[in-house]
Amino acid sequence: MESYKVQQHLYDVIVVGAGGAGLRATFGLAEKGLKAACITKVFPTRSHTVAAQGGIAAALGNMSEDNWRFHFYDTVKGGDWLGDQDAIEYMCKHAPEAVIELEHYGVPFSRTEEGTIYQRPFGGMTTHYGKGTAQRTCAAADRTGHAMLHTLYQQALAHDATFFVEYFATDLIFDEEGVCRGVLALDLNEGTLHFFRGQAVVLATGGYGRAYFSATSAHTCTGDGGGMVLRAGLALQDMEFVQFHPTGIYGAGCLITEGSRGEGGYLTNSEGERFMERYAPSAKDLASRDVVSRAMTIEIREGRGVGEHKDHLHLNLMHLGPDVLHERLPGISESARIFAGVDVTKQPIPVLPTAHYNMGGIPTNYHGEVVQKRGDDVDAVVPGLFAIGEAACVSVHGGNRLGSNSLLDIVVFGRAAAFRCAELIQPGAPHKDLPANVLDKALARFDAIRHANGNTPTAKIRNTMQRTMQKDASVFRTGESLAEGSQRISEVFEMFKDVKVSDRSLIWNSDLVETLELSNLLAQAVATMHSAAQREESRGAHAREDFPERDDEHWLKHTLVWVDEAGKSRFDFRPVHMNPMTDEVAAVPLAKRVY
Ligand code: FUM
Repeated sequence: MESYKVQQHLYDVIVVGAGGAGLRATFGLAEKGLKAACITKVFPTRSHTVAAQGGIAAALGNMSEDNWRFHFYDTVKGGDWLGDQDAIEYMCKHAPEAVIELEHYGVPFSRTEEGTIYQRPFGGMTTHYGKGTAQRTCAAADRTGHAMLHTLYQQALAHDATFFVEYFATDLIFDEEGVCRGVLALDLNEGTLHFFRGQAVVLATGGYGRAYFSATSAHTCTGDGGGMVLRAGLALQDMEFVQFHPTGIYGAGCLITEGSRGEGGYLTNSEGERFMERYAPSAKDLASRDVVSRAMTIEIREGRGVGEHKDHLHLNLMHLGPDVLHERLPGISESARIFAGVDVTKQPIPVLPTAHYNMGGIPTNYHGEVVQKRGDDVDAVVPGLFAIGEAACVSVHGGNRLGSNSLLDIVVFGRAAAFRCAELIQPGAPHKDLPANVLDKALARFDAIRHANGNTPTAKIRNTMQRTMQKDASVFRTGESLAEGSQRISEVFEMFKDVKVSDRSLIWNSDLVETLELSNLLAQAVATMHSAAQREESRGAHAREDFPERDDEHWLKHTLVWVDEAGKSRFDFRPVHMNPMTDEVAAVPLAKRVY
């Protein structure tokens, strides 16, 4: 193995990732007097939060009556009772203050006539525990993520935090006692290696949407945090729950916000029928995403798809009129024109359910601390390690996330993680001495991938993985498709042994970085497929045709999955927290989920 010179940096806390969650955590830490470094593989304002469109949920009640308890109920039900009710209480209760805080930071929210923040309806959001329709999603037109990310970055710049931009984190570094002490990272511009040491590491690395062939996720969404966690021998949670957004543009996969249905848009099939009325008589097009995506898939399967191949459906916005489209939905009007050649004032948009969000991820409590099952302690904290945002599974989204709860999740838990670090870490506390060989394993792996000299290009392995996931871990699953998919994805994992990295230079080089990213994606693809194969029920986004009912007796539990270096997975379970954090809200008892 080549010998590498590694520069060392000492901080109180290291944040990995500069999307909404990472930025909120970074300046939250700085605000508390902690010396924070944020390392990010892309420039902060290019992080995937920028692509979020429809808005951020909070029961402000600007448009009509609302209450955070209604939001709590909707989120528990939306997640098909797999969400932890203590964490959901924490998120929904803190939502209004989190949004007002964003407003004060300068997020340019759309406004009502009265000048308050404009809120639109989103799927699964109700008032009075399922009886009315809530207008809870606070929007900046259909570019809410863009507005938030830029504002959060400006806030971060106003604080005393240090950014390391275009640094790729390769592995977490732990001491002999299992305390996380930092990360090894590659500076993509200089081609140098760096050990960022902290009293804690906060992973804010986003989801692994790019494990799928067609995803609304950016190409950078490669689940780097989840990959590092698996390599550290820790478990991920609920990886079988992958959300398909009903309205990805057919062919391109780009997102058309659910806000378009919130503003009154609706889906039709080849017969011009508003088919959602049959599947969700009450909520119709604003049922939760898993319900709408399944209905669309059934329509296509039964021959009522549109287009030459009858393989997609139509989203109709024409009736909203140019003024509403221009004011409320300018971004998707442009996307539809560019990616589907459609003038939304005159034509429907061709759409198809598209991989969008990972409910599963790194298990944490509602402080953002990573937890694992250790003997009888099912919520044992991993010292020094935090995870937030889509990388994490808190679990507030359970088996299915409600639209606009993710922008909320990132700010609420980004802030919570900063608060927790401030409780635990003394600014400027001395760093523990570490053994001289502490980086050896991480460097050896880096070197092995860098010099991988097999016969299979990275792109070929990635393509095979993405097609396997798209085919076998999709909207509907069966025991047979999952068994086939499990075998196939394990074969793809094996293919990685034969990977060829053709450019070994350390300077910004897509081949090496894409191969490091692929290794993160692959481990999580295995975790997803294998977890889906073992969960023999249907819940939220995990729809098994051979087990069509939710089975609370056997499966009301979080899946924990480990994937070892050979690609073998192992499972255990954690109980779902069925009780809220306080008595300010009542637990939502198990019930059939209908919309
Ligand atoms: O449809 C959307 O605007 C997406 C929002 C979300 O995933 O929360």
